[in-house]
Amino acid sequence: MTYDTLLTALEEGILTVTVNRPDKMNALNRSVLADLDRLMDRVLSDHDIRAVILTGAGPKAFVAGADISEFLQAGPDEGAVLAKRGQDLFLRIERCPKPFIAAVNGFALGGGCELAMSCHFRLASDNARFGQPEVNLGIIPGYGGTQRLPRLVGPGRAMELILTGNMIDAAEALRIGLVNHVTTAETLLETAAGILRTIASKSPVAVARSIEAVNAAPLGDEGFAVEVEMFRACCGTEDMKEGVTAFLEKRKPIFPGR
Ligand code: COA
Repeated sequence: MTYDTLLTALEEGILTVTVNRPDKMNALNRSVLADLDRLMDRVLSDHDIRAVILTGAGPKAFVAGADISEFLQAGPDEGAVLAKRGQDLFLRIERCPKPFIAAVNGFALGGGCELAMSCHFRLASDNARFGQPEVNLGIIPGYGGTQRLPRLVGPGRAMELILTGNMIDAAEALRIGLVNHVTTAETLLETAAGILRTIASKSPVAVARSIEAVNAAPLGDEGFAVEVEMFRACCGTEDMKEGVTAFLEKRKPIFPGR
């Protein structure tokens, strides 16, 4: 499958997806959003894909935001449609039963920071910069940033980032928990692939249910009920039988993914 604005490469079950508009800092225009939607259809239906790395083309940017050149004509109704469109797409990523890692290789601003936050976790190269600069344009984050950033870094830090529009570097992103690891630019993708190879060796059923349960954490008491449901959904599966039997037989499990 080919895309206008994405490059994809599948290796050992790990799909590396590169947003490919380097001359525009990989900004999210309508084509990128449409391609990412088609990508999600593929990720959900293709059994050869076990996990996804999202990154940006070129040495400067992961994604420098929504494409500002498409904003000028937007009145309130178009703006609401635009925000809902991005939110729905990013929710598809967050709710995907297969793990997504954002490999942030440069600027992750506005919609780019929001895209990274919709992934299950984030790695950054040491030249990465993060920010929600929408206040500079007279708008607010509209692709989930006002909701996911406070969950990840706490309401006070999120409020400061969103109200000032200031950028932070990779070291600060690591310090406040926005990213899990910082690497050199050269080792970023291989570090992400290494983590995903570890995850791909585990039970796909347990991985999918873990994602669903962790995603329910902001729901409070309801989240605990979701955890019970996800635990129930694992019990009695072929993966559970294989995992437990392999442990008792002192061998490595081979999970059928059912
Ligand atoms: N939307 C559309 N085009 C963008 C863009 C965006 N979000 N971010 C960068 N670009 C384009 C620039 O317009 C420029 O295009 P041009 O060469 O045709 O003029 C090209 O990408 C390179 O960007 P430039 O600003 O020249 O690079 P820089 O290294 O000086 O600065 C940034 C890099 C990321 C700091 C700067 O481009 C920027 O602030 N971008 C906007 C970030 C933003 O506000 N994002 C939130 C949007 S809601």
